[in-house]
Amino acid sequence: MVKAIVIRETGGPEVMSFEEIEVGAPGPGEVRLKHTAIGVNFIDTYYRKGLYPAPGGLPFIPGAEAVGIVEKVGEGVVQFRPGDRVAYAGSVGAYAEARIISAQKLIRVPDDIDGFTVAASLLKGMTVQYLLRQTFKVTRDHTVLFHAGAGGVGQIAGQWLKSLGATSIATVGSEEKAEIARACGYTHVINYRTEDFVARVAEITGGALCDVVYDSVGKDTFPASLDCLKPRGLFASFGNSSGPVAEFSLGILSQKGSLYATRPTLGHYTATRATLDACAEDLFEQIRSEAVTISVGQKFALADAVACHKAMEARETVGSTLLTV
Ligand SMILES: NC(=O)c1ccc[n+]([C@@H]2O[C@H](COP(=O)([O-])OP(=O)(O)OC[C@H]3O[C@@H](n4cnc5c(N)ncnc54)[C@H](OP(=O)(O)O)[C@@H]3O)[C@@H](O)[C@H]2O)c1
Repeated sequence: MVKAIVIRETGGPEVMSFEEIEVGAPGPGEVRLKHTAIGVNFIDTYYRKGLYPAPGGLPFIPGAEAVGIVEKVGEGVVQFRPGDRVAYAGSVGAYAEARIISAQKLIRVPDDIDGFTVAASLLKGMTVQYLLRQTFKVTRDHTVLFHAGAGGVGQIAGQWLKSLGATSIATVGSEEKAEIARACGYTHVINYRTEDFVARVAEITGGALCDVVYDSVGKDTFPASLDCLKPRGLFASFGNSSGPVAEFSLGILSQKGSLYATRPTLGHYTATRATLDACAEDLFEQIRSEAVTISVGQKFALADAVACHKAMEARETVGSTLLTV
């Protein structure tokens, strides 16, 4: 038996209960993994609340990112052996001391990067990789608005944007977070709780506005984010921290300047072994070269997942969050 967080009905943080579960043996193509660190992501709250349906229905174990040691491999698994250090991002079931997972979802943790760094960055960092290098190829010629710049994804994005030489503007929810976002390399920082971010973006850019807006806040920043874009700019809506974007007419994209809009998800950018490995390797290179440093803002014990989600939803966290096992 191992300890895990189990959700039997969707709802507030208190629906997560700390229980003993049976993990069992890996089936064909699977491995049994003993977790050493679990990454916490805002997406975990969407599954908990029922905004996103859990893949296997209820009950389920939340969490989508972890690092661990392979304990046993199932039939047909040749690429991993017991003792290997591996990680994954995107497979629900991480808030547990151990789990069964498909070998196809795993990547090998490089020897020169520590496990806590990988658990704190694989999902968030691969998200930044595809957003900045694939959804829109950011260069030094671009001006970029990135919401929630002091968060887990936001801190990695600020550093990566700096290394690309782009002009970057972050929004943040407090003065303390503004300091953090500046230290991460954002060229300009706006506290969107006290300032009108559309007016400030116009002022900062001298009216030229942005080539791309990366918006993970959703409801509260829509449609204002569209007003920060140049004609034919790209609105990349990749999250719902304040709630989902309300339905809108496509005509708004025409009215606001023949804009493009996309709603990307990490899973679609890392669906094959080749794209998963390439995305992870690009992140690891950023970490090795120290272009990107991963900041663990807070750690909670697995048993304290309720407190962890409360802090995240109260906007009290900065950088990455880990659950320790
Ligand atoms: N589509 C994808 O592939 C993908 C992958 C990974 C993450 N994401 C999304 O990226 C975003 C960031 O993820 P993360 O794990 O790094 O989280 P995070 O940024 O560390 O935390 C979310 C942040 O959103 C901001 N926020 C604004 N309005 C909020 C509200 N009403 N309630 C709570 N927070 C609010 C807060 O920062 P301020 O106080 O500074 O506003 C908060 O700290 C999330 O929306 C997540 O779903 C998407």
